[in-house]
Amino acid sequence: MGYADALFDLTGRVVLVTGGSRGLGREMAMAAARCGADVVIASRKFDTCVATAKEIEAETGCTAMPFRVHVGRWDELDGLVEAVYDRFGKLDVLVNNAGMSPTYDKLTDVSEKLFDAVMNLNLKGPFRLSALVGERMVADGGGVIINVSTHGSLRPHPSFIPYAASKAGLNAMTEGLAAAFGPTVRVNTLMPGPFLTDISKAWGLGLGPTDGPSGTENPFSRHALQRAGEPAEIIGAALFLMSDASSFTTGSILRVDGGIP
Ligand SMILES: NC(=O)c1ccc[n+]([C@@H]2O[C@H](COP(=O)([O-])OP(=O)(O)OC[C@H]3O[C@@H](n4cnc5c(N)ncnc54)[C@H](OP(=O)(O)O)[C@@H]3O)[C@@H](O)[C@H]2O)c1
Repeated sequence: MGYADALFDLTGRVVLVTGGSRGLGREMAMAAARCGADVVIASRKFDTCVATAKEIEAETGCTAMPFRVHVGRWDELDGLVEAVYDRFGKLDVLVNNAGMSPTYDKLTDVSEKLFDAVMNLNLKGPFRLSALVGERMVADGGGVIINVSTHGSLRPHPSFIPYAASKAGLNAMTEGLAAAFGPTVRVNTLMPGPFLTDISKAWGLGLGPTDGPSGTENPFSRHALQRAGEPAEIIGAALFLMSDASSFTTGSILRVDGGIP
């Protein structure tokens, strides 16, 4: 095994990615499997989880377990954790990746139901999952939790205030969980900028909501790299945080945003 392969090796580890069926979650799950991990693909649409799990197994030879779960529903999360421990006997890495960012025209259009749905999925679910899993990881002697946030949590824009607030809460939670589960378990925030996935298509032409009205001008011209990210460009940072390459990194925020000022 080469030097870099050893540094990022996940052989024998079990990685659970919420929202692992599509977008950035799918990339991270596939990457973990390519580095030797068995993976759990958890999202609402079981068929999509199965299809992604099959693809990952075919390409990597690892075990990929599909699981249907609504991460915004507190009472469904015990079942997910039990199923993972029943199947694998342990969990090494939890990636709290599933998230939603609804669009709206004006703030009074945001209903209580919508506001609660955003908080439930982006903040409450990751809290409950981390609590359940973190305790077991400590008992097992190690583990990693990664919370997928957004650059918008640092630069809240009027068009996505509930989303920004939920993810800012997630950033805060990372620090608290790192203290709670340290020194045994490491907890970090992975903070993407605009990436070309389904979620960003809903924001308009695959562009991020912070980037002004879509038009002919490059909406990313203020960003150092002047473009949105391809989904696969999340992998390097994700593998760094999942693996022993980041053994002295916890409670931190890792920005992968193309250089947003
Ligand atoms: N793409 C970007 O530009 C960008 C920028 C900043 C931050 N992020 C963050 O990165 C994360 C991934 O985003 P993405 O762009 O990959 O999104 P995406 O392409 O829309 O994929 C979302 C994933 O989450 C799952 N999901 C959605 N609601 C769920 C729920 N209630 N319970 C369980 N799973 C659920 C979806 O599967 P099902 O439909 O089957 O449930 C899918 O697998 C999110 O937390 C997002 O906020 C993305």
